[in-house]
Amino acid sequence: MDKLASHYLAHITELNRRVADVVSRESLSGLVIHSGQPHRQFLDDMDYPFKVNPHFKAWLPVLDNPHCWLLVNGRDKPQLIFYRPVDFWHKVADFPDSFWSEHIDIKLLTKADKVAELLPKDIGNWAYVGEHLDVAEVLGFKTRNPDAVMSYLHYHRTTKTQYELECMRRSNDIAVHGHIAAKNAFYNGGSEFEIQQAYLIATNQGENEVPYGNIVALNRNASILHYTKLEHATPHPRRSFLIDAGANFAGYASDITRTYAFEKNIFSALIEAMDKAQLELIDLMKPGVKYVDLHIETHRKIAQIMLDFNIATGGAEGLIEQGITSVFFPHGLGHMLGLQVHDMGGYLHDERGTHIAAPDAHPFLRCTRTLAVNQVLTIEPGIYIIDSLLNELKQDKRQAQINWDTIDLLRPFGGIRIEDNVIVHADRNENMTRDCGLD
Ligand code: GLY
Ligand code: MN
Ligand code: MN
Repeated sequence: MDKLASHYLAHITELNRRVADVVSRESLSGLVIHSGQPHRQFLDDMDYPFKVNPHFKAWLPVLDNPHCWLLVNGRDKPQLIFYRPVDFWHKVADFPDSFWSEHIDIKLLTKADKVAELLPKDIGNWAYVGEHLDVAEVLGFKTRNPDAVMSYLHYHRTTKTQYELECMRRSNDIAVHGHIAAKNAFYNGGSEFEIQQAYLIATNQGENEVPYGNIVALNRNASILHYTKLEHATPHPRRSFLIDAGANFAGYASDITRTYAFEKNIFSALIEAMDKAQLELIDLMKPGVKYVDLHIETHRKIAQIMLDFNIATGGAEGLIEQGITSVFFPHGLGHMLGLQVHDMGGYLHDERGTHIAAPDAHPFLRCTRTLAVNQVLTIEPGIYIIDSLLNELKQDKRQAQINWDTIDLLRPFGGIRIEDNVIVHADRNENMTRDCGLD
């Protein structure tokens, strides 16, 4: 039997166990999880691409069908109200016939506004989990996305089941095919737009299927952290290429970044140094380690790289304390990964929702958790020449510690990020990205 199918029952058994626990604690009859509704574009008769509620796709890999409802109480077989309208304009979802369907009771809904007929009579005792609070109110839900339930689900969601880990390995495998095609397209002279097409073809996923807008950046564009514009012309000369792109498997995301130099030079040496540092950071991951400590260790490594490459002068600790490393590495080391790219739960320290924010000096860090078995995180250190941040630094005495000639040399290359997706096991780490064959 396919691995996915063999793990699925245990997956929903675990999700049911969590629901049983939280609904008994909150004195609820159960949860009604809404897949979502289409969003209409302003003054138009077309909808934005549909993005399913992550709590819904946690239970079943139905990603493209709005107006579906899942009823779970932790005891009974989950019930799916599955939307199949009569519609000659749009593709109507096929009746589910997959490895998961035998584990779910399925009822059909042909008119979206008739769902009340299929919902439980004591709807006031069920909690609504979804985006459309107005719809929930009209349907008679008294409790909508209650904090206690959401915190509980988000906290536990960071512990992946075997089914989820298998989905994430496959999502890495698909993305790695895309990354290899993109790398070849870069060395063959492709523009950002052409590299993006090569990536999508190799992953067999469309722009609305991949889990986030791909970052495909040549030369200086690599310094823009969330660059999603795609230039159609190939720049001359070609110097560098940063690609941050993932894939989707059954609703689970991968999130991978690589940076390449067109020629051997100071920038290619800097990429090698960052790659080595990234692997050393991954080696430090194990249950009990605080992710914040890994982030601080990243700053130490980046400070050392800045000294080694004559980007800055002084001592490594001083570069960190004065916020100089943060000018070159302004984002966090990484984040929880799963149903969402920036998966929920990164700041939660217990199931009641105790929130620990990122340290003041590192406001963009997306995870303050202590690592534990079966968590999946990204590790994505980087170093960038970002003029807006450097201009600020130039205003004070810190500018004396910067070697501006090296900055001028590096500026045309933009920046570097290396990002892998890692499972924390009891006695080892599993680097899914490298295991799939991406150097
Ligand atoms: N792709 C967004 C990120 O790496 O967090
Ligand atoms: Mn990324
Ligand atoms: Mn990431």
